[in-house]
Amino acid sequence: MNNIVILISGGGSNMRALVEASRRDDWARQYGAQVSLVLSNRPDAGGLDWARAQGLACAVVDHRAYAQAAEPRVAFEAELVRHIDAQAPVLVLLAGFMRILTPSFVQRYAGRLLNIHPSLLPAFTGLHTHQRAIDAGCRFAGATVHEVTAELDHGPILAQAVVPVLPGDDADTLATRVLSQEHRIYPQAVAQRLRQLR
Ligand code: GRF
Repeated sequence: MNNIVILISGGGSNMRALVEASRRDDWARQYGAQVSLVLSNRPDAGGLDWARAQGLACAVVDHRAYAQAAEPRVAFEAELVRHIDAQAPVLVLLAGFMRILTPSFVQRYAGRLLNIHPSLLPAFTGLHTHQRAIDAGCRFAGATVHEVTAELDHGPILAQAVVPVLPGDDADTLATRVLSQEHRIYPQAVAQRLRQLR
């Protein structure tokens, strides 16, 4: 089976969209693929409850546990890698995973590591994308699925969705509109990648 590992930090709605698509579209039969592990850096990530209730394997590597290590980020990632590599995954999907990854982690999964970012890249890398789009007077906003490279929120673009920025929007209303598109394009982009791997 082609294993897929999903990394989350929060509510996990993108993870949920991916899992639901994998079931609805029978990725196991179509691509021999399955979500084999949901991995969180936060023990309190809301998405873990849903994933566990679905019977999915879950693991937590709490980044705060490595704060005293000589190289906290390296120690944290070594533990992430241990969990991920045990799955020998064909894809590693960042889905609202809020830790910056080192170049060596990114290199390890080169070509297999995807991310969803809530802006129309290359505009608005980093955080607070929706408020920044509103502040800039953008008429359109959106989301991007991309391959992860060493530079934050860069890398080849696999899919994008565009939504209007409406009069009276605040960061929350715009985020909600963008998120519904994220849930559509991330599973589509993953399915396309799985087709290419077939
Ligand atoms: C999404 O907008 C994602 O693009 C961003 O953080 C949000 C996480 O949402 N990085 P969720 O955890 O998938 O619900």
